[in-house]
Amino acid sequence: MRIAPLSERVVGERLGHAIHDRRGRVLLAAGVTLTPRYVSVLRRRGYLSVPLFDPLAPDAVPLDVVRAEVRQHATAAIRETLRQAVADGSVAPETLVQVVDQILDDLAVSPDLAYNVSCLRSLREYLFVHSVNVCVYALTVAEPLALERDQLRDLGVGALLHDIGKIYYLELVNKRGPLTPEEQAVIRRHTTDGYELLRRQAGIDLLSAHVAYQHHERLDGSGYPRARRGAQIHPWAQAAAVADVYDTITADRTYGKAIPPHEAMAEVWRQAEAGQLNRQLVRQLMLRVAAYPEGTILALESGEIGVVVGQGRQGGDRPRVRVLADARREPVAGGERIIDAREPETTVRRVLADYPARLRRQLGDALLA
Ligand SMILES: [Fe+2]
Repeated sequence: MRIAPLSERVVGERLGHAIHDRRGRVLLAAGVTLTPRYVSVLRRRGYLSVPLFDPLAPDAVPLDVVRAEVRQHATAAIRETLRQAVADGSVAPETLVQVVDQILDDLAVSPDLAYNVSCLRSLREYLFVHSVNVCVYALTVAEPLALERDQLRDLGVGALLHDIGKIYYLELVNKRGPLTPEEQAVIRRHTTDGYELLRRQAGIDLLSAHVAYQHHERLDGSGYPRARRGAQIHPWAQAAAVADVYDTITADRTYGKAIPPHEAMAEVWRQAEAGQLNRQLVRQLMLRVAAYPEGTILALESGEIGVVVGQGRQGGDRPRVRVLADARREPVAGGERIIDAREPETTVRRVLADYPARLRRQLGDALLA
């Protein structure tokens, strides 16, 4: 499988796995051939990328540490919670606690797996999917904080609800294109407004409310709403900040351009180096989240070309790569190996959007022979 940007170029390709609608029903089944009509349906629904079947990497299936049904359940729970909050200003935590427990259970059974971010998301569902992603990432990066289960639960609930203040200005949140400075100032109030809403709720821990309050604060004092610094920012909010930045830049919806995971990882690290994000937590993100998800096509420093078919055990930047072409770009008989970013000749030179046309032709011929 490989992930491709949603454009006319995918017409005629087969879908690598099913795409579901918000109720979990199959919208397009795995294996269907994409037609111009399907492409426009997906575009109308706000999808930016599609998973394509790839005969050169049929086994490249992105694994997720959280089961699809758990994500589905979590997305539905946060959607319902926000709807309720809009309706009568109340937030009932029971379902959310249940959801966080399921996420924690899934994370606990696959502790060694670097998990993959999926670039597939519908803009219409953006806020819900983003909330679930931030929850999963925050619980993952929080590992060095050595929290107890009930603390993790409160952190998870806070992360799920970190953007709840946005319900007060949904037209701005859903606006396409860049925001004016005035509109940005309004959106920034979602931190304080979310905190004010959450701290009044029975059953929601005050620290969960603080995650919403402080997730845009930065260690160097450059954040908002109160320009807090260093230890003035609660560690849980620091974890939510790392999670939020990473997920936001992998789905840059303002310009409709999602940044691939490895570039997003580099950007998050840059913000840690600049003293804005907690380095220890960012390191954990890099360790536990795959920079090169399965199906990513890579050009190596050696000149070889390969496709990611799995993840190494030592961190998210060491994928298992099936080498398909040698340094002269000629097809090679399959050799699979783990790239180690410390070895200069196997360092990733760049990520390719597709196989080079000549290689694709040659490999295609070999497959048909
Ligand atoms: Fe936010």
